[in-house]
Amino acid sequence: MFITFVDIDGYKNLKEVFFEPHKKYNLITGKNAQGKTNLLEAIWIMTGCRSFRGSRDRDYIALDRRFMKARIDFAGGRRLQKIDYILSRDNIRDKRISINDIRLKGTRELFESFKCVVFTPGDIDLINEGPEKRRNFIDMCCCQIAPSSLGYIRKYEILLAQRNAALKEIAAGRGDEAALDVWNRQMSVIGTRICNMRKRYTARLDKICRELYGKITSGAEELRIDYCSNIFGRDEEIDIHTAASVDKYYDRLCRCQRDDIRLGFTTQGANRDDISIKINGLSIRDYGSQGQKKSAALVLKLGQADIYYKNIEEAPVILLDDVMGELDESRQELVFDIVKDMQVFITTCNENSVKMLSSGKHFVMEEGRLSERKS
Ligand SMILES: Nc1ncnc2c1ncn2[C@@H]1O[C@H](COP(=O)(O)OP(=O)(O)O)[C@@H](O)[C@H]1O
Ligand SMILES: [Mg+2]
Repeated sequence: MFITFVDIDGYKNLKEVFFEPHKKYNLITGKNAQGKTNLLEAIWIMTGCRSFRGSRDRDYIALDRRFMKARIDFAGGRRLQKIDYILSRDNIRDKRISINDIRLKGTRELFESFKCVVFTPGDIDLINEGPEKRRNFIDMCCCQIAPSSLGYIRKYEILLAQRNAALKEIAAGRGDEAALDVWNRQMSVIGTRICNMRKRYTARLDKICRELYGKITSGAEELRIDYCSNIFGRDEEIDIHTAASVDKYYDRLCRCQRDDIRLGFTTQGANRDDISIKINGLSIRDYGSQGQKKSAALVLKLGQADIYYKNIEEAPVILLDDVMGELDESRQELVFDIVKDMQVFITTCNENSVKMLSSGKHFVMEEGRLSERKS
């Protein structure tokens, strides 16, 4: 998959940015606060996901404009496709998004059509922050390779919110404890599926990341990624075809019900999972150096890109926002090696820190305007 044409206007500080990217390698340089990240962000929202910087829809529109419009043409699914994305300040909820001139209702079809992996300096949060970040990351990865997973994840979130509300009602003396069984039953079915999906994905990620991290450290350090479920054991098979795993999950929900009522939330299940990330047997979050954490975060993302590629048999577009310049040569080589068959967009404010390939394009961003630099 690769983008053949980009046309963005009024997205944050971007003004009439239109260009034909190189099929493989695109380097975007410029001083700080010129709009380099904004450009990658505008490409990223074409996946239907929210901004990787946490901006809200309203923030997408340039302060002095009423509209933003973005368009990309891309080769994907063996044909040339087009996405148009228009937001209006006056009616922010009414996103006008279309694929190949067909208006979409939501953003889900974007996610299934335009495939992309973004690397940002914030990826280190995957290591440093709490389990929720890691769960969301794995869920997102699973949705990329099997979009139907999104249905389970959404359903689980709804059931969880309902069960938690019911727990509080019961604690307040307004509900009947027996009514919880409806949620226990449904959550154990969906929860088991989610655990199974996450566990299988994590096993794939472990394999590829171990190999990549080994390359970075010339074999001196071993990275291991493990799925930690509070219901199922580490080596236990999670079987979604027979009742055994669902029954186990259900029993656990029933047994913790009393505690849950007292605490007012669901203390067991997929909503409490984590992914453990260790180097040479030690938790990287607790014991890792800053450099190890950065490398591990990078390797997680490379693993994601690699699995995505192998699964969809079509390379995702890779956005590397401000991460290459920080890497030494051997780490940069590793990144180039993984993404060599993919279209990449690399931003940096220090152009000497990232090598320019002879076959590729170099763009310069200045005050929201992009120009191509011919060598
Ligand atoms: N809604 C907006 N309207 C206009 N300008 C914006 C908006 N949001 C952010 N900016 C501007 O975008 C610039 C930052 O762009 P960014 O892409 O982060 O820069 P870079 O990655 O090149 O360092 C800042 O100058 C900021 O003021
Ligand atoms: Mg930036």
